[in-house]
Amino acid sequence: MNQSPLLPLREELAAVTPYGAPQLEVEARLNVNENPYSPSPEMVADIAKAVARVGAGLNRYPDRDFVELRQALADYLLLECGHSFPVQHIWAANGSNEVMAQLLGAYAGPGRIVLGTEHSYSMYPEYVRGAHSRYVTVPRQSDFNVDLTVLTGALQDLRPSVLLLANPNNPTGTVITEADLKQILQVAQQTGPIIDGESTATVVVIDEAYGEFRDSGQPSALALLEKFPHLAVSRTMSKSFGMAGLRLGYLVAAKTIIYDIMRVRLPYHLSALTQAAAIAALSHASEQLDQLAQLRKRRDKLASWLAAQGYVVPKTQANFVLFGPFENRHKVFNDLLERGVLIREVGPTGFLRVSIGSEREDQAFRAALEEATK
Ligand SMILES: Cc1ncc(COP(=O)(O)O)c(C=O)c1O
Repeated sequence: MNQSPLLPLREELAAVTPYGAPQLEVEARLNVNENPYSPSPEMVADIAKAVARVGAGLNRYPDRDFVELRQALADYLLLECGHSFPVQHIWAANGSNEVMAQLLGAYAGPGRIVLGTEHSYSMYPEYVRGAHSRYVTVPRQSDFNVDLTVLTGALQDLRPSVLLLANPNNPTGTVITEADLKQILQVAQQTGPIIDGESTATVVVIDEAYGEFRDSGQPSALALLEKFPHLAVSRTMSKSFGMAGLRLGYLVAAKTIIYDIMRVRLPYHLSALTQAAAIAALSHASEQLDQLAQLRKRRDKLASWLAAQGYVVPKTQANFVLFGPFENRHKVFNDLLERGVLIREVGPTGFLRVSIGSEREDQAFRAALEEATK
């Protein structure tokens, strides 16, 4: 092969490495907040049938507007939280990662600011870089809850075009109360960039990737959509639904927001296979939702156990627990890995995050942590 020529890589990418947590074949994989349960044999059979059915039509492009899938997602939302949305308010893409990238493609861009909070999802800065915008974060309180005064102050001072808030937050597991969320949304009505002399709204993205794990009585931000048309609620089938391998994330928002996303999406971004598999998987929604109670119970048990070991453990409503602080978290991470337990070194200095696994994985984690720290 000829010597490769120098390629015109974008200058700002020179120091960037590809993002991704380790994918290792170990006894307990507790580092990316997956659902530990495989889909049921019935669900797998239905997915296989659905994929076989569309196979004969793969010479054609898929339904660009994936109307049947949007309806299946609407039916799921009605079941999960009792809110009914017409398909025009629903959007989907290959993981909520792609949904976010599309949102920022429409509303961020050069010269604009995207606001977030510290100790939040580590992909947010990556999305923002892809949109050529500036990511600014505000501090959280010492218990890792959102600091409402600081956040609303930053909205007013910085005029961001987008605010990204994960709720429950990754990696802290903490949630924003509905009262705080309403206040943020109220302030954000007028804090976007000034365009042609007029204040725009900041688009507030509530990332509910872990929404289904919230405690009962904690409402979803979906309840606020009618009142706040600058709100967009992002969700995914990767976590509670146990379909991380499917790559299906979705968004619920006002029709104008969905239309703005359509301005930047690539046509046919959701393959016919993805659409068929997702519709088949969604027909098993009730059994997936039934599993959640078990996972929540084990999460609370693990959080209590970690607290009883003397760690600081923020109250979590997701499928993971943050714990610490350790003087040398990297050593603890490695000591666990040596024992076949993979967790995540992420978030506030000295803290580690562990996902809720199967019963066996949870046991392996506890045993490994006890050994590593005795
Ligand atoms: C807060 C948050 N948002 C979004 C995602 C991305 O999910 P998806 O698999 O739908 O791209 C994750 C994945 O870990 C996450 O933690």
